[in-house]
Amino acid sequence: SNQFCDAGIGYGESACGVSASTSPSKILIKGGTVVNAHGEEKADVYVGNGIIIAVKPNIKVNDEVTVLDATGKFVMPGGIDPHTHLAFEFMNTETVDDFFSGQAAALAGGTTMHIDFVIPVNGSLTAGFEAYAKKAKKSCMDHGFHMAITKWDEVVAKEMEIMVKEKGINSFKFFMAYKGALMINDELLLEGFKKCKSLGALAMVHAENGDAVYEGQKRMIELGITGPEGHTLSRPPLLEGEATARAIRLAGFVNTPLYVVHVMSIDAVEEIARARKTGQRVIGEPIAAGLALDGSRVWDPDFVTAAKYVMSPPLRASGHNKALQAALSTGVLQLVGTDHCSFNSTQKALGIDDFRKIPNGVNGIEERMHLVWDIMVESGQISVTDYVRVTSTECARIFNIYPRKGAILPGSDADIIILNPNSSVEISAESHHSRSDTNVYEGRKGKGKVEVTIAGGRIVWENDELKVVPGSGKYVELPPFGSLFNGIDKLDAMYLSSLQAPVKRFKSAA
Ligand code: URP
Ligand code: ZN
Ligand code: ZN
Ligand code: ZN
Repeated sequence: SNQFCDAGIGYGESACGVSASTSPSKILIKGGTVVNAHGEEKADVYVGNGIIIAVKPNIKVNDEVTVLDATGKFVMPGGIDPHTHLAFEFMNTETVDDFFSGQAAALAGGTTMHIDFVIPVNGSLTAGFEAYAKKAKKSCMDHGFHMAITKWDEVVAKEMEIMVKEKGINSFKFFMAYKGALMINDELLLEGFKKCKSLGALAMVHAENGDAVYEGQKRMIELGITGPEGHTLSRPPLLEGEATARAIRLAGFVNTPLYVVHVMSIDAVEEIARARKTGQRVIGEPIAAGLALDGSRVWDPDFVTAAKYVMSPPLRASGHNKALQAALSTGVLQLVGTDHCSFNSTQKALGIDDFRKIPNGVNGIEERMHLVWDIMVESGQISVTDYVRVTSTECARIFNIYPRKGAILPGSDADIIILNPNSSVEISAESHHSRSDTNVYEGRKGKGKVEVTIAGGRIVWENDELKVVPGSGKYVELPPFGSLFNGIDKLDAMYLSSLQAPVKRFKSAA
């Protein structure tokens, strides 16, 4: 049963023995291997007032300090999940995990910050921001926001500026899929990219050709394929490759950096690799599910099993996941998200007669750190320092909050995990902390276990026990003009000077 609370999510002093400490204390982490993206060292870490005070060998302290023994273990920055959907109203329902349960799950899995997607309300960014600020009031973990752009006019353009300059948003997501709902066209994409560039905000895309997906869905329904496999068959990798290529080319045309979310296929990876080779600033984000799973389970005869794997872009045929791992290990892809968007089996059953009505999304916020460790580090594909980079540091850098986040350095926020490489985990809906009754990684075992999570200087996860306080999570403002924008102005100037002076033409007599 659930170690957090059998009756779902509880907090504070509760029947299941979860206690909530309200003030951050002083903590000394002794004897571990401290890992940053830039290197590792044997050192102690001293924490106070929610901040890392010192990182060096043999720290001696006199005052009241909680001492944690990390001998034989790795002390690393808490994970930052760049891609989540908590309390997301989508496809006629709302995700089961909200800003408390989703974050509690995250903390139990070693993630100490996430960036969620604000969805505008009737096209209003301001109303969307207010709605999400309200949803996030119960937060027990630090969080930031991206914002989706779902329509275009002068008001939206002005609101984007307000979001960046006053609300701490430095990234906007454009959906090239979900026709009739969130999808936008190329004209809007270009307008949006131009606006992002002028504000120093990062343009993000969900890259699938929405018009073709719509056509593919009709094709499947006409063929009588109404089950979950119809979802996968209606939106093949080539539609992801096409949209990825189009978004990359349009971002290149505007000369603004681009972030491709949930890269799921070889087709998309190849487009990103090609663009990066030419020097274009394109970031590719695989998600935990894309690395760990393939899409074969949507053919499972049991609807509940099949439907839990339905997400967009779909989990692909076996082989794509291996290619995504390789791309991550060679730097073609840079950081791992989850797209945590959890629906329970009752919600998934909205599409029992029609795959088009199955709410799209899989879990992962609690599992990501363990999966990436097991799949990428334990297998020998990446180093421990690269692990820190792809699960934490790169996200902090891209969204311009490094080294406050993403580092074990004096002055950084005390968001820290202790990972025991010799321990192991087994994933199950029985023991996870999400509110969902299913888990796409059900039964999966892996080496490496996050034994302690410290968030904002508090020990929130220890001995398989969560101690989380609603309202203790801070909203982290993300400043514009991160390092991806360095030199963009110079490239623009070079482009302009490369254009020939206007050609002089004379009217010729007829
Ligand atoms: O299926 C998915 N990915 N659901 C979440 C929404 C999105 O497209 O990111
Ligand atoms: Zn309990
Ligand atoms: Zn998406
Ligand atoms: Zn998403």
